[in-house]
Amino acid sequence: MSNVTQTILLAGLGFMGKMHAQVYKRLSGVSIVGVVDERVDRARESLKELGISAPVFASLEEALKQVKADILDVCVPTDRHTHLSLEGFRAGMAVFCEKPIALSVEQADLMIAESDKRGLAFQVGHCIRFWPEYQALKGLVESREKGTLLSLNLTRRAGRPAYSANDWLLDESRSMGALVDLHIHDTDFVHHLLGAPESVRSVGLRDKAGWSHVFTQYHFPDTLVLAEGGWDYPTGWGFEMTYQAIFEGGVLDYSSSLPTTLRWTSRAGNPEPFPFPQPEVDSGASAGGNISSLGGYYNELKYFTDCVKEGRKPQVATGEQALHSLKTIHAELKSLESGKSTECETSREVRA
Ligand SMILES: NC(=O)c1ccc[n+]([C@@H]2O[C@H](COP(=O)([O-])OP(=O)(O)OC[C@H]3O[C@@H](n4cnc5c(N)ncnc54)[C@H](O)[C@@H]3O)[C@@H](O)[C@H]2O)c1
Repeated sequence: MSNVTQTILLAGLGFMGKMHAQVYKRLSGVSIVGVVDERVDRARESLKELGISAPVFASLEEALKQVKADILDVCVPTDRHTHLSLEGFRAGMAVFCEKPIALSVEQADLMIAESDKRGLAFQVGHCIRFWPEYQALKGLVESREKGTLLSLNLTRRAGRPAYSANDWLLDESRSMGALVDLHIHDTDFVHHLLGAPESVRSVGLRDKAGWSHVFTQYHFPDTLVLAEGGWDYPTGWGFEMTYQAIFEGGVLDYSSSLPTTLRWTSRAGNPEPFPFPQPEVDSGASAGGNISSLGGYYNELKYFTDCVKEGRKPQVATGEQALHSLKTIHAELKSLESGKSTECETSREVRA
């Protein structure tokens, strides 16, 4: 423990909390000093499987009486993000909160205001901004090495999640369905790559778990951008994220389910692997395992813990950026309900 320079309190040890725990194990000088989870016994069991020793508390309030930490990492269901993040800031911790920042714009505003008021770092888990193959696409758009980006098609397809605590993901009032829980990753990446769209037009399918499968066109003056996101595939089908980015010079295409995930095909050529940087594991990594499978999760948490350590305000996946993406998702929701294109509030704010 002597080289520990940063301490983490991890709230929520379900699917994503366990993913984050695996990353923290691999970051040198970082230690999980407590876990908060309503399902205490299950969380204790998970920690044992992960080979991490830390006390488990049933609530953040209880944890704060007994442990002190630099960072609160919020991996609880989305409808609890605002409450826990505000408590974290008020206890003097920097906060990393999973995506989406919150369900409503008003909740997100409160979180950003609290972090600003206290001068505490805040980052949201928009991990696709940190995903190596998506970083490669951003690099190619910015360098213009292959000419202008003509069109971009993004997909995020999955079976219906059956794993979440008390099935919160299938309760629209807690997750806002696949539209917000899954598809927001691509909406956020579109913002990261091209800025706010002028307007959006969405169509989709809805059932008792909310908008479960969505197709959106993001309107930009010079680039055609489409995204499909949803969990209407059979459960056994698994998960896949892809993009096809057509440039003047050829196509860059990514699929999480192919052995060669990223390929470039020039106008006169055949598909060939496209090189991209893999996350670097800290020299002080405390565990083995396949770090590349942690991809953007490793990169985003390394970035955040470095920012906090060095007293820097994160510039990527900030609260404000997450709010912009949430506003566009709400424009998509309006479009789904009205059947019409909807102007994006963020775009109007940027133009004003
Ligand atoms: N970035 C990504 O790729 C990604 C992927 C999946 C989930 N997520 C996000 O991560 C968050 C968690 O999702 P998940 O898939 O891990 O869900 P999950 O149901 O697997 O885990 C949630 C955990 O939080 C605990 N919990 C619930 N309410 C709590 C409370 N008030 N205090 C303490 N613990 C509480 C539950 O017992 C459970 O262990 C969600 O916001 C989700 O959108 C992000």
